[in-house]
Amino acid sequence: MKCLSVLQLLLAAAAPIEAAFSWQNVNIGGGGGFIPGISFHPTAKGVAYARTDIGGLYRLNLDDSWTAITDVLATDEKWGSWGIDAMALDPQDPNKVFAAIGMYTNSWDPNNGAIIRSSDRGNTWSTTTLPFKVGGNMPGRGMGERLAVDPHNSSIIYFGARSGRGLFRSVDGGATFSRVASFTASGTFINDPSDTSGYSSDIHGLAFVTFDSTSTALNGATSRIFVGTADNITASLYVSNDAGSTWSPIANQPSKYFPHKCKLSPSESALYLTYSDGTGPYDGTDGAVYRYHIPTSTFTDITPFPADKYYGFGGLGLDTLRPGTLVVATLNSWWPDAQLFRSTDSGATWSKIWEWGNYPDQTLYYSQNTDNAPWVNAGYISQDSKKLGWMIEALEIDPTDSDHWLYATGLTLFGGRDLTKWDLPTGRNVTISVMANGIEEMAVLGLASAPGGSELLAAVGDDSGFTFRKEGDLGTSPKTPWMTPIFTSSTDVDFAGNKPDSVVRIGSSDGQVALSTDGGVSWNAHYGAGTSKSGGAVAYSADADTIIWSSSNAGVFRSQHQGTFTALASLPSGAVIASDKRNNTIFYAGSGASFYSSTDTGSTFTTVAGALGEATSVRDIVAHPKVAGEVWVSTNIGLFRSRDFGVTFSRVGSSSLSNTQHIALGVGTGSSWNVYALGQGAAGAKLYASGDDGLTWVDIQGGQGFGALSACRLAGSANVQGLVYVGTNGRGVMYAKGTVGSGPGTTLVTSSTARPTSTSSSVPTTSAAATTTTTTSKTASTTSSTTTSKPAVTTSTSTSQAPATTTATTPLAGRWAQCGGIGFQGPTACAAPWTCTYQNDWYSQCL
Ligand SMILES: *[C@@H]1O[C@H](CO)[C@@H](O)[C@H](O)[C@H]1NC(C)=O
Ligand SMILES: *[C@@H]1O[C@H](CO)[C@@H](O)[C@H](O)[C@H]1NC(C)=O
Ligand SMILES: *[C@@H]1O[C@H](CO)[C@@H](O)[C@H](O)[C@H]1NC(C)=O
Ligand SMILES: *[C@@H]1O[C@H](CO)[C@@H](O)[C@H](O)[C@H]1NC(C)=O
Repeated sequence: MKCLSVLQLLLAAAAPIEAAFSWQNVNIGGGGGFIPGISFHPTAKGVAYARTDIGGLYRLNLDDSWTAITDVLATDEKWGSWGIDAMALDPQDPNKVFAAIGMYTNSWDPNNGAIIRSSDRGNTWSTTTLPFKVGGNMPGRGMGERLAVDPHNSSIIYFGARSGRGLFRSVDGGATFSRVASFTASGTFINDPSDTSGYSSDIHGLAFVTFDSTSTALNGATSRIFVGTADNITASLYVSNDAGSTWSPIANQPSKYFPHKCKLSPSESALYLTYSDGTGPYDGTDGAVYRYHIPTSTFTDITPFPADKYYGFGGLGLDTLRPGTLVVATLNSWWPDAQLFRSTDSGATWSKIWEWGNYPDQTLYYSQNTDNAPWVNAGYISQDSKKLGWMIEALEIDPTDSDHWLYATGLTLFGGRDLTKWDLPTGRNVTISVMANGIEEMAVLGLASAPGGSELLAAVGDDSGFTFRKEGDLGTSPKTPWMTPIFTSSTDVDFAGNKPDSVVRIGSSDGQVALSTDGGVSWNAHYGAGTSKSGGAVAYSADADTIIWSSSNAGVFRSQHQGTFTALASLPSGAVIASDKRNNTIFYAGSGASFYSSTDTGSTFTTVAGALGEATSVRDIVAHPKVAGEVWVSTNIGLFRSRDFGVTFSRVGSSSLSNTQHIALGVGTGSSWNVYALGQGAAGAKLYASGDDGLTWVDIQGGQGFGALSACRLAGSANVQGLVYVGTNGRGVMYAKGTVGSGPGTTLVTSSTARPTSTSSSVPTTSAAATTTTTTSKTASTTSSTTTSKPAVTTSTSTSQAPATTTATTPLAGRWAQCGGIGFQGPTACAAPWTCTYQNDWYSQCL
């Protein structure tokens, strides 16, 4: 071991060499989560946006790819900024874009919502904080759009709020908003009044704002405005004919269902509306489609094939170049598949995109192309009767091109460029392609990089997980997700240090454990998993013979040689766990203030007294991928390191880093390893890196948003110098490569002598953030908060951590569909109200 004087330490530490870390997504591709809305600019060709419920707003590029444009807003504190509840474009200015942001209206999101506005297509933003919360990941998020710009006057913007707060208006281009007191309906529907979390017990509120651009202007404002509410008892469609001064419910309107979409066909002077008996996005067993002729105030029921209905309607795309031509989608038709209907005569007659042939054959008037994200076919389309998708709220026909259309599902975003082929008398056949390039919405639950094994293993919510064998694969959407068995969600993954191609993963449903011996390319189910534990974390012993599983619901378990998992009494439920990566007999664990180690291959764990000083909460434990006995522990007060198998610990970087979350080690410069930590440091709550064993830390996050740090996962590359991965909760896996200041003590240390923590290294860590980011204007002008009809729903709990809630895009099996049985890989939960019912060992069915 090289010895350095204190002077050398100081000199080296004072001049860290840093190279910029510039962040980009690992290309999982295909979206991977629910996309509730798509908006095209009505006249400017190619200007379109897609909003997600947990992963921010995206802008469409000329090559059909998408660019994330709200990352800069999703700081640790403002992680809810990735919940986009509504968006609006200015019909008179294609450079302007607006969005209502905020994740939850209950206590889960500590912050109030905001309206953000951009005059450069989302490159930079200004923010107006609202005096209440916005719920981008709440029920009914596919209704809309709730935000709209007056087509006659760019200064006027309306926002229909949730939670019974009513209708808001800006007359200064979105800088300030005030309540429209004359609009008194509040959309009173509540999903489940008994939900004490506040998630399903909130008042839905308003569903959409639709201007009639053909109406005359009154004092420079569009006079006729329609507003929809979530209400199936009184009325749900209101109109103002005097630019918002007075409002009334429209007479003779349909009242049985909730309106989801309301779009104007200007040249027909008509509105088209889709209705469902639920507010979405998972429900819907009945519904309707209506056309409202404005001059005669007449509603016409134009529901396609009304006798067929066992679903509600969601997505609604109008071809404004061909008045009277439209496509509507079933919101959820869980079996056999979604249906899309097209009419070219204003809804008088319809055709389907598929029909029953000789049962059970289907005649498909489409082909599907998943070249952009092959795993969508391998893991889902080819494994399921549902090809077209589910949760279809977003469906748009390009206002400048009748052939170009896009629609989104709970899984991905589809589209095509030959939609008018639907109308051919013979050869009716449209091509539906995955067109989600650049949309990375995965909620990442576990990450690993195995030295000499797979470069990146990513366990994700809702889409099983993905393997990238080498660095060169990071830019290519994987051919398959983790399959045979496919898990709805994989919650963690680990490799065996001495056999790095041996990998274990666990899933979120009972009894889900799978093993791979080829680095996560192919898998086998572990048959000792039992049926009463799920989720949590997993650790694989160095020689791949023993698994410790800290489940999320039933305590900690151990399995050896693929035997049955047995309960480990010596560890508390929910313990953080890790395996030594070189010594097969050693495991580590932590819970609360306690650190535990096992020297008998996880059979028993004992507490290491006083290991972690004043720390009261162990957040993460990481063993060095190559060095036996070196283990790092992240706690509420920062980092600790042991080099003697957890017998003794030193506090590391205590002067510069505290409240750390996930940590990781990755190959650094030369033979050294970098340490990466998400925590509170000189530049705030961010991602820091150390090239000197934790003496000094630099901010390598820069202006990139990762959302809530506590919800992020972290991996350092075990193979590539300076490469680091951040798994986000809704924006996929991001990575960057750079050089971290190579300070003292970075040579590979194999001594097991615990080194005392240096206190002489309080380096003023100048931010290394050379990441190019656009500045976001932080002018948060407070809105005039007119008293609303309802007192504040919650007080913000500033200490609450970000819930690792993922978009629940769980595929559900429909009525009569198979939902279980030996070897069955499809969805094991049934769509409401059906129950998965055991028939025999090989077959369970939704009944
Ligand atoms: C747009 O609306 C604002 C707010 O009502 C008004 O002050 C302005 O005069 C209008 N602009 C035009 C061009 O009429
Ligand atoms: C309104 O919709 C909810 C949810 O579907 C349903 O439970 C309720 O019965 C409906 N109310 C009426 C009056 O139809
Ligand atoms: C449409 O094209 C697809 C792919 O070639 C084919 O499978 C399908 O049968 C075609 N549909 C019809 C009605 O010809
Ligand atoms: C692994 O750890 C055990 C228990 O501390 C020890 O006895 C053994 O020598 C170690 N083995 C190796 C290969 O380091």
